[in-house]
Amino acid sequence: MKNFISLADVSDPKALVQEAIQLKKNPFADKALGKNKTIGLLFFNSSLRTRLSTQKAAQNLGMEVMVMNVNQDSWGLEMMDGVVMNGDKAEHVKEAAAVIGQYCDIIAVRSFAELKDRNADYQEIVINKFKQYAGVPIVNLESATRHPLQSLADCITIEEYKTKPRPKVVLTWAPHFKSLPQAVANSFSEWMNISDVDFVVTHPEGYELAPEFVGNAKVIYDQREAFEGADFIYTKNWSSYKNYGKVLTQNPDWMITMDKMLLTDNGKFMHCLPVRRNLKVTDEVLDSPQSIVIPQAGNRVWSAQVVLKQILSGL
Ligand code: CP
Repeated sequence: MKNFISLADVSDPKALVQEAIQLKKNPFADKALGKNKTIGLLFFNSSLRTRLSTQKAAQNLGMEVMVMNVNQDSWGLEMMDGVVMNGDKAEHVKEAAAVIGQYCDIIAVRSFAELKDRNADYQEIVINKFKQYAGVPIVNLESATRHPLQSLADCITIEEYKTKPRPKVVLTWAPHFKSLPQAVANSFSEWMNISDVDFVVTHPEGYELAPEFVGNAKVIYDQREAFEGADFIYTKNWSSYKNYGKVLTQNPDWMITMDKMLLTDNGKFMHCLPVRRNLKVTDEVLDSPQSIVIPQAGNRVWSAQVVLKQILSGL
């Protein structure tokens, strides 16, 4: 693997999931692989899980880790070419990415969608600029349109918890008062489309995801109908793609409650976290045995580790 920016960088996603599950049994077996290698983790946005799990994964592989909060700890970065840099951005990504590439063997980047200009966000300017100028492999820690390390952890979790060969997986929108990116939902849909699952997406009208991410999913606008017989309920809020970045409704009827979970086939509740309790999901669901959000977050280590292992193996 040369980079890990999207599913397209993975030659065999199902084998990658199985490799992660094996690696989890013996986490320090590849400690020599990362000796004298450095990963730089660059955060344009906040993080708990991605930051700590990727550090842990790199350390399990014997790597050195450098972490930087871009725009807070460093200079503001200009992404556009040909501009007169007379504003608040003191350094161009051309130099910054190339310089960080001198210090690091792998660079991992988190940069969320700004949700102002759909074309700009869906061009993935930040992560693609790093790929263009860094000269070393790039790992996506959540970009404008995708969160593939999360999706890989989700696939590992579904593989571990499934009770039938082809489970029914439902991605459901849940209410939130803020405008949130589509990245997690997009990426989850992309990975579910190539998994051995019956994949259903449910959301209020107006929250349709981009067609290239929905793929062959069955879209059902009635949440209760979508939940019937489900094995996994994957909950996420996202803002509108069509009416880009807008919050069209905060309808609390879309919150995940135990009476909806009772429609499932003893379905497991999943969420990438962080989650706002009693806004998107009730305490009762989140604190129930049906919730697997903690082992799901735990699997972020193994998704990061298997990706870094594959990249290191090719250096
Ligand atoms: N799920 C996830 O990416 O968590 P963080 O935003 O805390 O990294």
